[in-house]
Amino acid sequence: MHLSREEEEAYQGERGESLRRAMEILLALGDIYGADRLIPVASVQVAGVSFKTIGEAGLEWISDLKGKVEVPSVLNPAGMDLSRWREMGIDEEFAKKQIEIVDAYRRLGISPDCTCTPYQIRPDSARRGDHLAWSESSAVSFANSVIGAKTNREGGPSALAAALAGKTPRYGYHLEENRVSTHKISVDADLEASDYGILGYIVGKEVGEGVPRFSFRRRPKVDELKALGAAMAASGSVALYYFEKDAPKAPKGSEEISVTAKDLRGVREENAPDDDVDIVAMGCPHSSPRELEELARLLGGKKVERELWICTARGIAERCPKLVEKIESSGAKVFCDTCMVVSPASDRYKKMMVNSGKALAYVPGLCKIEAAYGSAEECVMTATRRR
Ligand code: F3S
Repeated sequence: MHLSREEEEAYQGERGESLRRAMEILLALGDIYGADRLIPVASVQVAGVSFKTIGEAGLEWISDLKGKVEVPSVLNPAGMDLSRWREMGIDEEFAKKQIEIVDAYRRLGISPDCTCTPYQIRPDSARRGDHLAWSESSAVSFANSVIGAKTNREGGPSALAAALAGKTPRYGYHLEENRVSTHKISVDADLEASDYGILGYIVGKEVGEGVPRFSFRRRPKVDELKALGAAMAASGSVALYYFEKDAPKAPKGSEEISVTAKDLRGVREENAPDDDVDIVAMGCPHSSPRELEELARLLGGKKVERELWICTARGIAERCPKLVEKIESSGAKVFCDTCMVVSPASDRYKKMMVNSGKALAYVPGLCKIEAAYGSAEECVMTATRRR
């Protein structure tokens, strides 16, 4: 891999130990994937924040690093709401470790906005054509597919290394030749908002790491695309998809997959809620202002009869205090900085109902509890129904 003089000095440790370690990670990655050089990134999103996932070893590694990041950088969700963790049932020991992790990142100059939707709170962090080093799979999918930026799905250490160096190796989705669709997906159904999570859940399983190109009957809304990409990244490893009518066509001979209303109904029926549901959790990926508005409307005048969590970014909750107040007047809780999957607080429940294809794919494995699926309306019905 070609290095500039400055990069070579950084690699040799002449600009500090932390940057040397960062360069070591970036070069190792570049070598593995055949990158020819490093390229500057516009922003970084760093995963590996929840103490539940990185543990003591991760905390030690981050605390050891010195210096400051070179580009605007944000964190992925942590294991708890950083101010309301007691209400989540998080114990003191976990909270102490979690706060140490976020503080260690903060000392490196990384913003403690712990969110998987950095584009909702800082639209200027990713623009069409920008190269990025983002980690969280739904954010990566949104950046590549909806914003038109270019990022690989970084691991926690490689994203942190990119933040410290302000650069990433040029390979994978940074190269146009790898951004070609591999599957044609025809959707033979009139989709409602909650169908996109299920559609993504189905297609992700089919295409794995592929690049699907959808033809829809109508252009999906931004929140629907967010749900679709998140689900495909979880049930498969999709990091890029196309949905615009004028998107590049899949090459001749590409596999064609047709998804029908019956397929969508089948997954819904398989994952229908029952009386075992003891928590309903929404906001995967983190809720947008529009989604909070819809929830406030659905919950208007109702009281919850079982736990109902809505996860969002702190920046969104602070922008919409009236909506948060309205939602919480039902007894639901709007938690920031975290989510139902990365927080250990979910593990004490038996069955979680979600309106997210990504959460449906992840909750059983990562929280070791059962999952059920429904639309936002059905989730609210379940949460407010007397047991
Ligand atoms: Fe975000 Fe957590 Fe879902 S990180 S995409 S809310 S699993």
